[in-house]
Amino acid sequence: MEAAERLRAGGLVAFPTETVYGLGANALDPQAVARIFEAKARPSFDPLIVHVPDLREAGRVASTSDPRVRSLAERFWPGPLTLVLPRRPELPEIVTAGLPAVGVRVPGHSVARALLATAGVPVAAPSANPFGSVSPTTAEHVAQGLGDRVDLILDAGPCRVGVESTVLSLVDDPPVVLRPGGIPHEELEAALGQTLEVRASSSRPLSPGLLERHYATRTPLWLLDEAAPQAPPERGRVGLLAFEGAPRGHGYAAVEVLAPDGRLTTAAANLFAALRRLDALGLDLLIAEPVPDAGIGRAILDRLRRAAAGSR
Ligand code: TXA
Ligand code: MG
Repeated sequence: MEAAERLRAGGLVAFPTETVYGLGANALDPQAVARIFEAKARPSFDPLIVHVPDLREAGRVASTSDPRVRSLAERFWPGPLTLVLPRRPELPEIVTAGLPAVGVRVPGHSVARALLATAGVPVAAPSANPFGSVSPTTAEHVAQGLGDRVDLILDAGPCRVGVESTVLSLVDDPPVVLRPGGIPHEELEAALGQTLEVRASSSRPLSPGLLERHYATRTPLWLLDEAAPQAPPERGRVGLLAFEGAPRGHGYAAVEVLAPDGRLTTAAANLFAALRRLDALGLDLLIAEPVPDAGIGRAILDRLRRAAAGSR
């Protein structure tokens, strides 16, 4: 597999996961990892997630002795859960931005799994987009954002989940949800039999997924508290990101419906592509309806809030 060879040779390979496309490099090669930061213009204080094929391989980069790791891994791996665990000294510092803990996950996408199995090295991979912009859920999105800064892009069509993994820190007590994502935190609480702390955003974050303005469109975006009004505010040409049902309202320059079937999982899968389509129209304003604040809806709301930060 050419992509695996590229990774082993220090190259950058964009690959599909079930959440979003990742920009991968050999996590054991600090120079290759440095190219990720360069390609994304990502601040060096923002640690990367390391992708491995299974729990055993996770033990190469992190300490997995905490019994909660096994129970979470059995239940949620492969899948959209990142565990923050004590790092092993063999892991280059650049991967964790100097932090004593590393984020590890076993992705559920068959192409990602084949890549990891063939490469035989742990793969550091952030989302494959320029820092702060909307995450990529297709290979085309990757090419638009990063173009020739990537050695190879593996194209496997749109991502199934559509929002990033839930990041759970097990180095804090009680464990802390650092980023809401594909696995709702109630499911983690049920599996652990323990209440979790859910961290809100800050401007000097422990987890830069918590940076206030992130996932941002170029067009200003407002997140509403309720369903969108029939007529848009008088702000020039306005685009509407609706949650469900038939598009409502008149006078919007464009409307995207996230979930024609009313399901939150459908909305998550469509979120980033719909934001990109609206952003590409060069409108004056985007307004987004809220989605229900439950399950994966919390991850969607989190991304919309951050996309909207600083727009009003
Ligand atoms: O679904 C995903 O997680 C995707 C796919 C490609 O796996 N990856 C992803 O990576 O979203 P990225 O870099 O865009 O976001 C990773 C988040 C960041 O907010 C980062 O700060 C946090 O995870 N993170 C990573 N390692 C951490 C650590 N050691 N301590 C605290 N937060 C960490
Ligand atoms: Mg990202």
